[in-house]
Amino acid sequence: MKVLVTGGAGFIGANFVHQTIADYPQAQVTVLDKLTYAGNLSSLDGLGERVKLVVGDIADRDTVDPLVADVDLVVHFAAESHNDNSLRDPSPFIQTNLVGTFQLLEAVRRHNVRYHHISTDEVYGDLELDDPAKFTPATPYNPSSPYSASKAGSDLLVRAWVRSFGVEATISNCSNNYGPYQHIEKFIPRQITNLIDGVRPKLYGAGLNVRDWIHVRDHNTAVWAIIEKGRIGETYLIGADGELDNKSVVELILELMGHDPSDYDHVNDRPGHDLRYAIDATKLRETTGWEPRFKDFRSGLADTIAWYRDNEHWWRAQKAEVEAKYAAQGQ
Ligand code: NAD
Ligand code: TYD
Repeated sequence: MKVLVTGGAGFIGANFVHQTIADYPQAQVTVLDKLTYAGNLSSLDGLGERVKLVVGDIADRDTVDPLVADVDLVVHFAAESHNDNSLRDPSPFIQTNLVGTFQLLEAVRRHNVRYHHISTDEVYGDLELDDPAKFTPATPYNPSSPYSASKAGSDLLVRAWVRSFGVEATISNCSNNYGPYQHIEKFIPRQITNLIDGVRPKLYGAGLNVRDWIHVRDHNTAVWAIIEKGRIGETYLIGADGELDNKSVVELILELMGHDPSDYDHVNDRPGHDLRYAIDATKLRETTGWEPRFKDFRSGLADTIAWYRDNEHWWRAQKAEVEAKYAAQGQ
């Protein structure tokens, strides 16, 4: 089985490649990654000859075409992925998330290759804090930021390529991931690495916004379950019932790292900040039998903290630049 993994040097993609090599002895993986600021070659260290890296842009037809022609399956993780960056400059989000997805869809159409599209629950907009509802596959798309709008647009391209051209695709929309290899611009690793540096964690606004956390390994086993058992043309929501407000997450990180849980700062809120995300994963569970295995957030977070402590060489070079960008916005 030959698999093309786009964005395989990023957070979720790199974890996916590690899991695929470990769990699928027959798999040969080609990673296509542009190595933007978010790609890290060392995330793929030690994987051996079954993984090949091609440095290139998913929005470039001539790069994408021969790679897609040579595989049985494309799993598309590559994206500009950070909301705060999309508020500073939306342009690479449009280019990579929309034009890049378009080029991949055209290539899988030409070569008749199975395609799985990785997306986010943020395409659905947000829920009220006191609303018992969760996102389901029937929830209307209502994205808030340039990031989520570009992901929503890419999902709709996939649906159109399925319906109009018979492309064999599935889509998954997952909630917030945490775990090893996540870029330190993101909420959880930013706070862990701040504390390692003796800096107080930074909470946007009052910190009451809710995210539905899932361990990255559970996201990736769900992706494989959909590839193996999902129905072509269908969308599956991936989540592990991990709703927590940001304040509680920061307090837990402080506690696990040996600090007073109230030792954090409130900083400027994100413009348009989505209030709450929550996933109803019934369709995924009923169709594929998938179950999350890393449901204990406290122990998953403790392992993640240990990973950032043990792998300072992986993130250190980016820390000053990331914090300078946030400081310029009072965050
Ligand atoms: P990431 O930012 O850590 O990694 C993205 C990777 O894509 C990087 O290696 C980068 O170099 C590469 N890339 C960017 N532009 C490219 C281009 N034009 N051509 C080739 N490669 C390019 O992102 P992530 O957090 O691993 O997210 C992966 C996917 O999962 C994205 O599609 C994202 O929307 C989705 N997702 C993420 C989360 C989350 O919590 N992080 C949740 C749900 C869905
Ligand atoms: P983030 O990791 O950027 O993911 P997303 O925007 O996709 O949910 O942020 C998670 C939550 O944490 C979000 O509500 C914004 C908040 N946040 C902070 O409070 N402080 C921070 O330093 C960052 C980066 C995010």
